[in-house]
Amino acid sequence: MPVVLENLGKRFGDGAPVLDDVNATIAKGEFVALLGASGCGKSTLLNIMAGLEKPTSGALEVPSDGAAFMFQDASLFPWLTARGNIELALQLADKSSTKAGRRDRANELLELVHLGGAGDKRPHELSGGMRQRVALARSLAQDRQLLLMDEPFAALDAITRDLLHDELERIWKETGRTIVFVTHNVREAVRLGQRVLLLSSRPGRVVAEWDVTEEHRTDAGHAGELTGVITRRLREEIRRHAK
Ligand SMILES: Nc1ncnc2c1ncn2[C@@H]1O[C@H](COP(=O)(O)OP(=O)(O)OP(=O)(O)O)[C@@H](O)[C@H]1O
Ligand SMILES: [Mg+2]
Repeated sequence: MPVVLENLGKRFGDGAPVLDDVNATIAKGEFVALLGASGCGKSTLLNIMAGLEKPTSGALEVPSDGAAFMFQDASLFPWLTARGNIELALQLADKSSTKAGRRDRANELLELVHLGGAGDKRPHELSGGMRQRVALARSLAQDRQLLLMDEPFAALDAITRDLLHDELERIWKETGRTIVFVTHNVREAVRLGQRVLLLSSRPGRVVAEWDVTEEHRTDAGHAGELTGVITRRLREEIRRHAK
C-alpha cells in the first residue's frame, strides 16, 4: 500500500500554517529523501505520517499497521542492554511472542546491523554510531512496512555516517521497507533516496522533486551535478525564508 498525502495542511493553535497543501505519493518499497530548511515542517510531516500529530486539513493514507519511527538521537533505554532494547520493541510489537523467540529475533537484528558481538553491552558502553545501529535494529523490530527516519545520522562523523548509509541501503534492499528519510544534507539525500523531495519554508509544501537514477548511483560526476542542482534550489528556499 502506498503512502498518499493529499492537500495536507497543519497549523498549531491559531499560528501561521506550518504545512500547506502538501501532496505526495510514495510507492511501497520506495526510498524517499525529504529535504528542507530548518523549521520548514519536516518533522511535523513525519509525525503526521506516524500518526503522532493530526493534520488540520487534507487527507492521508498510510499502511493500516502504522509506521516504525527512528529519531535523530538513539533514545535507547540506558538500563537495558543493546539486545534488551530490541527485545522490548519486539515484545511491544507482538505481545504473544515468546522470550526465546524474541531473543533469537533480536540476535538476528543485531547481526543485520553488524552488532552481533555487542548484544550484552549497555548504551553508555557503545559509540554514537553503534547506538544508532541499535536504534535502527529497534525500529526494524517494530516490523512495519513503513519506516520513518528523522535525521537519524545527523550527529555522526562523516565516516561513520558513510558506513551507516551502506548498511541502511543494504537493509532497505533486504527488507523491502518503504522509507521516508528526513535530512538537511543534500549529499545524504542523493546518496540514499530514489527520489528527493524538497519542502519549501513557511508554509511547508513540496516545491521540487528529483529522481535519483542508476547513473547517479554509479557515476560520482553525475551524482555531484545533481547534488549541486539540489543545493542551489535548497539555498533559494533558505534565502526566501530568511527574508
Ligand atoms: N507542537 C508544536 N507546537 C507549536 N509549534 C510547533 C510544534 N511543533 C512544531 N512547531 C513549529 O512548526 C514549525 C516546523 O517545525 P518542525 O519541527 O516540523 O521543523 P523541521 O523542518 O523538522 O526543522 P529542523 O530541520 O530544524 O528539525 C516550527 O516553526 C516549529 O516551531
Ligand atoms: Mg526536524
